[in-house]
Amino acid sequence: MAAGGPRVVQLAPSLLSADAGQLADAARAVEAAGADLLHIDVMDGHFVPNLTFGPHVVAAIRRATTLPLDVHLMVQEPAPLVDAFIDAGADVVTVHWEAVTHLERLLAHIQARECLAGIALNPATPVSLLADVWAECDWLLIMSVNPGFGGQLFWPRALHKVQTAHEWRGELARPRIAVDGGVDETTAPLVAAAGADVLVAGSYVFDGDPAVRLGNLRRAVTT
Ligand code: DX5
Ligand code: ZN
Repeated sequence: MAAGGPRVVQLAPSLLSADAGQLADAARAVEAAGADLLHIDVMDGHFVPNLTFGPHVVAAIRRATTLPLDVHLMVQEPAPLVDAFIDAGADVVTVHWEAVTHLERLLAHIQARECLAGIALNPATPVSLLADVWAECDWLLIMSVNPGFGGQLFWPRALHKVQTAHEWRGELARPRIAVDGGVDETTAPLVAAAGADVLVAGSYVFDGDPAVRLGNLRRAVTT
């Protein structure tokens, strides 16, 4: 564990599993229930076989909540899109390693816009590929499912990747390590113990009462 006492694990509900007709209400509900961030999944129908939210939806959510907005871009060509999402109110912009050719340049651009710059790794992409951009990475999103849909089963090998990233980080405060996919009250403590700082959870939070489910997750990572 890094110096400075016990790590505080943050909870980031993913709006992908919320009622699409009530996104603002869902954002307000999880904020009231103690969420730390709001995770917004942007899908383009090419990088992943699904279509979701654009910048105007992010802007509407920005108006509904004061929570930091963590925008996960699952798009084939993120570079031309990041500014629109930052203008819409994103606080973290995460792009997929598999989708970017000039990664360090894009991370620097996101940081120059005073936003945290994140890299997401698909299950088959090893953490070791980040060696030369590690210093430029504020946020590392380790996918524990193949991206594209909520409600999939947690991929246990993601735990090894979280451990590797946590060891690489050592005493440093960054990158923040987030895990996305299949997080529920059973997998959350495993992910937290492996070294994750942020747990993204969609179907687990929104398939029940979000306040109850967030409480369950909080207990699962603090006991
Ligand atoms: C999947 C998305 C996730 C999704 C997770 O591609 O990146 O953020 O919302 O959903 P659950 O928690 O249901 O696996
Ligand atoms: Zn996501």
